[in-house]
Amino acid sequence: MMQRDESTLLEVSGLRTIFDTRAGAVCAVDGVDVTVRRGECLGVVGESGSGKSVTFGSVMGLVRPPGRIDAGSILFEGQDLRALDPRQMRAIRGRDIAMTMQDALTALNPALTVGEQIREMLEAHDEELPPRGAARRQAIRARSVEMLGLVGIPSPAERLRQYPHEFSGGMRQRIMIAIALASRPKLLIADEPTTALDVTIQAQVLELISDIRARLGMSVVLITHDLGVVAEHCDRVMVMYAGQVVEQGPTQEVIAAPQHPYTRGLLASIPRPALRGERIHPIQGQVPDLIDLPAQCRFYSRCPLAGDDCLKTIAMQPAGPRRMARCIRVETAIASQEAEA
Ligand SMILES: Nc1ncnc2c1ncn2[C@@H]1O[C@H](COP(=O)(O)OP(=O)(O)O)[C@@H](O)[C@H]1O
Ligand SMILES: [Mg+2]
Repeated sequence: MMQRDESTLLEVSGLRTIFDTRAGAVCAVDGVDVTVRRGECLGVVGESGSGKSVTFGSVMGLVRPPGRIDAGSILFEGQDLRALDPRQMRAIRGRDIAMTMQDALTALNPALTVGEQIREMLEAHDEELPPRGAARRQAIRARSVEMLGLVGIPSPAERLRQYPHEFSGGMRQRIMIAIALASRPKLLIADEPTTALDVTIQAQVLELISDIRARLGMSVVLITHDLGVVAEHCDRVMVMYAGQVVEQGPTQEVIAAPQHPYTRGLLASIPRPALRGERIHPIQGQVPDLIDLPAQCRFYSRCPLAGDDCLKTIAMQPAGPRRMARCIRVETAIASQEAEA
């Protein structure tokens, strides 16, 4: 038995999530380990299709057929979420862990006002509300106004009566965050909260999440395909590729000296406005098909350092005191970076 560390909020080990399709079993998440500590912001980064949403959808108990969790454990404050029945899981979801979805417009209920959606969340999860009557209604209203105010929506009392379509894209993301925060979760999982937004609004929503995290002392998992966003907002980062974690460690260390060739590729493909005119180097090639993957490094076909010794299953290697990378050339990667610098 591993000793439980009180600073650990979420501990996922060996998670495997599969989608049974006509073409075969798609292994969207394959042996993923994730740890989220209290109060920290973990960035999860990787190209589209790398398994970011499915990993955290699995944590939330939101994987539905043809998907299924095939292996692994998901411990939240030491409690195994996979052992819970659907009713117990619904109680955790929202009260302890909340997730905002990539697409706010489809994730919100178009038929209910914003106020009604926040109220549903509070009714389901807030045990501190007065039991009934006018006092309860007033408390719900006050909390709803407070939540919309917290996410920076002007005239919150009036806007509670409006429907999702009456808000702009940025405001809808804020509303989803307000609903997610209504029950004061210990962990907020924000799945690409800014992908659909323009750059200034993106920055505002990210500032908002960082600010609320500091004020409420919660943990945040920030899913993004933008390593620049991670650099600015996350304490630690986990890089995913083809259903696996390929690198993880403290953000500043990983960005200063990435040790997996894929992370280096992601960094090289960040557009840098300060260096206008500089060529962006996207990673050549494609993510492998997730059905019947051969036992070799999954980045093999795209990797500048690939050799015959990569044609076997590659485990995570220690790459520093608090770092890991799924590459047998961790040392070579460091050396070639030094040569370039
Ligand atoms: N409903 C589904 N049916 C079949 N395959 C799926 C389904 N949802 C996700 N997948 C598979 O899982 C992979 C990872 O998806 P996802 O976690 O959404 O990627 P990301 O969030 O990193 O962009 C996809 O590339 C796809 O192959
Ligand atoms: Mg996704």
